[in-house]
Amino acid sequence: MPARAWLPKENPIRGVNLGGLFIVEPWMMGDEWRSMGCGDYASEFDCVRGLGQTAANAAFQKHWATWINQTDIAQIKSVGLNTIRVPLGYWIKEDLVYRDSEFWPQGGFAFLESLCRHATEAGLYIILDLHAAPGAQKAWEAFTGQMAPTPGFYQDYQYERALQFMEWLTNLAHTNPNFANVGAIQLINEPLQNRDTVQSMLNGYYPNAWKRIRALEDSLGVIPSNRLHIMMMNGLWGSGDPNEGLKGIDLSFALYDDHHYLKWSTDPPANRNAYMSHSCTNDRGGNFPTIVGEWSLATADEDGSEFDIKKADAVSWYRRWWAAQVLSYEKQRGWIFWTWKVNWINGHLEWRWGYQQAYLAGVIPKNPQEAHTYGVCSGV
Ligand SMILES: *[C@@H]1O[C@H](CO)[C@@H](O)[C@H](O)[C@H]1NC(C)=O
Repeated sequence: MPARAWLPKENPIRGVNLGGLFIVEPWMMGDEWRSMGCGDYASEFDCVRGLGQTAANAAFQKHWATWINQTDIAQIKSVGLNTIRVPLGYWIKEDLVYRDSEFWPQGGFAFLESLCRHATEAGLYIILDLHAAPGAQKAWEAFTGQMAPTPGFYQDYQYERALQFMEWLTNLAHTNPNFANVGAIQLINEPLQNRDTVQSMLNGYYPNAWKRIRALEDSLGVIPSNRLHIMMMNGLWGSGDPNEGLKGIDLSFALYDDHHYLKWSTDPPANRNAYMSHSCTNDRGGNFPTIVGEWSLATADEDGSEFDIKKADAVSWYRRWWAAQVLSYEKQRGWIFWTWKVNWINGHLEWRWGYQQAYLAGVIPKNPQEAHTYGVCSGV
């Protein structure tokens, strides 16, 4: 059963990121990280090097089996979501790893395959995202899997490893039935906004990836209407116009990814009214079609301010702001929350970052369509 280049028709994309599964980010899952024996380390790479390969493999395999599994897929489905975005590190394709100098957990692919089988059986749309690139696309960020002192991704031999990764994903989507609901693959998550790196990415890596993915599809006999969507950060990300180097390429299966976190923004100012009016009025488009592939309920100013989640009216206010963001992003092709699941952050259960936790706290309703019935943006 080949993958189909489809998008859910009846609804917008409504999904969650499976953050922390194949790339652990310790900040959002402290208990889990400590239980893996990794508490002294800042990233996956550091923990694997520290524990040694055999012990690390055992710790990560337990993590992959339990952090997000079949039970979660059923819950994701039951709360009205139709999409998962799966952040991946290049090392899950184990033959890309330089064994003498790179330290990564082994055995992840079997868990990815079974996860995608369950998601396919549940009818979820699957986006596979190269979230952590060879050499690291950003310095000192756990989301790249390593604390790299410099961003080493932006050179030909690293691009070549990423291109092989894209061909591998393409082949899986079209030939392995467990991956039949993979409809999109993302070329790179959150690249640098620096001008030099942007040039080689937009005019080198992106067009090469398009050509290699389409050539592989042609060689597999994939008909044009079954092609995968190819997802790139949209222009709002600040790393240039993703279409710049794609002239002459048929872009009918392009998808664009916008990440919008007010947590990291100074505009609007950090107060409830400003957040509501921002979310009700701002435009996340630019490239079409765009999905807001990462966003959350985290705010710039947290404890002690009017955003404090311990305030008596926190649940009702955050529900309204969640709804305002949903309305905004559904003016585009839809949204994918960051993330499905978190555990302790700063000593409390931080439901602003976890869809499952926000649902259990009563912040997010069982059917996201309800966002359209609250009237949160009328009069704004
Ligand atoms: C998924 O992991 C949880 C622990 O987080 C566990 O309780 C549950 O049984 C697992 N589900 C499956 C289907 O393995």
